[in-house]
Amino acid sequence: MCGIVGYIGNKNGIDVVTRGLERLEYRGYDSAGVAFFGVGQKRLQVIKTVGRLDALKHILAKQKKSGAFGTAVIGHTRWATHGVPSKMNAHPHIGCKKEIALVHNGIIENSDALREALSREGHVFRSSTDTEALVHLIERMISFGALSLEDAVRQALRHVRGTFGIVVISSRWPNRVVAARRGSPLLVGVGKKNEYIIASDASAISEHTKRVIYLDDNELISLSSEGHRIFDIANNTLFKNASLITWSQEESQKEGFPHFMLKEIFAAPDVIENALRGRVLAKEGVVKLGGLESVQKKLEWIKRIVIAACGTSYYAGLIGKYLIEEMAKIPVDVVYGSEFRYAPSTVDRSALVIVISQSGETADTLEAAREAKRRGAKTVGIVNVVGSSIAREVHAGIYNHAGPEIAVASTKAFISQLVTLAMLAVFLGTERKTLSDEKRKEFLKELVALPRKCRFVLKQDQVIKKIAKKFSAAQNFLFLGRKFNWPTALEGALKLKEISYIHAEGYPAGEMKHGPIALIDQHFPTVAIALQDSVYEKIISAIQEVRARKGPIIGLVTAGDSAFQKYTKHIIAIPQTHEALSPVLAVIPLQLFAYHIACFRGADVDKPRNLAKSVTVE
Ligand code: F6R
Repeated sequence: MCGIVGYIGNKNGIDVVTRGLERLEYRGYDSAGVAFFGVGQKRLQVIKTVGRLDALKHILAKQKKSGAFGTAVIGHTRWATHGVPSKMNAHPHIGCKKEIALVHNGIIENSDALREALSREGHVFRSSTDTEALVHLIERMISFGALSLEDAVRQALRHVRGTFGIVVISSRWPNRVVAARRGSPLLVGVGKKNEYIIASDASAISEHTKRVIYLDDNELISLSSEGHRIFDIANNTLFKNASLITWSQEESQKEGFPHFMLKEIFAAPDVIENALRGRVLAKEGVVKLGGLESVQKKLEWIKRIVIAACGTSYYAGLIGKYLIEEMAKIPVDVVYGSEFRYAPSTVDRSALVIVISQSGETADTLEAAREAKRRGAKTVGIVNVVGSSIAREVHAGIYNHAGPEIAVASTKAFISQLVTLAMLAVFLGTERKTLSDEKRKEFLKELVALPRKCRFVLKQDQVIKKIAKKFSAAQNFLFLGRKFNWPTALEGALKLKEISYIHAEGYPAGEMKHGPIALIDQHFPTVAIALQDSVYEKIISAIQEVRARKGPIIGLVTAGDSAFQKYTKHIIAIPQTHEALSPVLAVIPLQLFAYHIACFRGADVDKPRNLAKSVTVE
């Protein structure tokens, strides 16, 4: 996700901020920028570049030669969410009078309404970001008589819906930096002699100071050479002590998790919230997908849907098929991206082709999108990386908003793909009038409850670790599921083989008796997804068949299913949810299981052998 660094003090702030931004590079970004005042300068300087930080550093090095020495500096690495990666969309953003500069992480949900209102008052917008609305809003507060930068920021934030970590400077108050947070992390490093470094992540701070103040939601901090003041949106002054950070550089990037993969699995609740934010109004039973507006008319009369994707994204597509067919009654085929072009295809203008890709760069999926367009179909992308090749190729799309995924094996992106497909299924069902109000509301209620239920699942981590230890020497695994959780079984097997190098196969449970059962013996464990849903009894039959052949069983069951203990003592329980949403909860234990087994076997979890994060060759 985007990274923020800010500085106020007597050192050369440009150096401190660029160094901090380098420390945040691991988070992924597509553009970067800084804003600062040189010593004795009244005017704000803003420099932004697209691509790697080197380009920005190159320009700043020249500035430094000509004497630029920032005492109040803010910097940002952007990972696009609203608007493509470009110099214009990069942060810092500035107001009309070029007096205020702001960097922002998070999403301003009511940015469209703010933009409209501010434009009517004469504010001119230059970028397509949600952030720019906020800088104009602060500018407005100053024009309307705010007495200080703190006051202007505080008043502006009262009108904002959504999440933010922001840092603001203004040429009217050149010796002051104001920061605030709601939902996006922000911490303030306290250096010597009233020197402060603000960052979205401790790794940008820890080489300068170990003393940090953590801002909580709806808190602001005002920093100057005279010291700092912490206050809330209602302007109550707050008193907070600095804490000591004990993490190393690398540990800070992983936020205390031993691997990025584990950190990303634990991000599931936030990832779901980010995917849903501003799109689902559960009480009203409404799903809004702004990215589909350009193809909305066409969606009314398409006859079929084809989903094309690879690997984990393909498995998300298989679950998407069940979701869309259930909610919108449109027939869906799911095809590997690599096969789409070569299979004799009936895809034509009456079809909608949905391509799913975390990276947005997978060559096989990109070619599938191009081929679909050649055949006259409309294309929709479900993509995590904004402005990626697939995002640019498709006619319309829905971004996952999962943030950059650093571990090679996909985990949080899969979760966000499922949530996005669930929203799409409801959206299509609403367009097609195949969903009753009651069914839609019930489903959305469960959808918004997922983050809470995910947290419950994540609490099972130690139970899962214990089971993983017991089975870590196994040479083979079978994963079984049915209906919505057949693809979850495939994904569980893929995760395990990718990072632990254990041979694993996923099967729809009903297929086991048609072949794989020959493999079962006391050394061949089976992970069975046996939730109390419409296929529970069917799964139990398969489990009986495994037991009859002395195969060890690990059961993934619905919390409260105590009867399951008669089949095995290796049980992981997840909360009840709508059957169609159960893969979101069921996949988390499988991700954790693969993770722990890989750790017990000493594998390089984040960078498994022979695999690349984005596969840009066919
Ligand atoms: C599995 C994994 C791969 C990707 C596949 C498609 O953990 O990461 O199977 O899912 O290479 O990648 P994207 O989604 O970027 O198109």
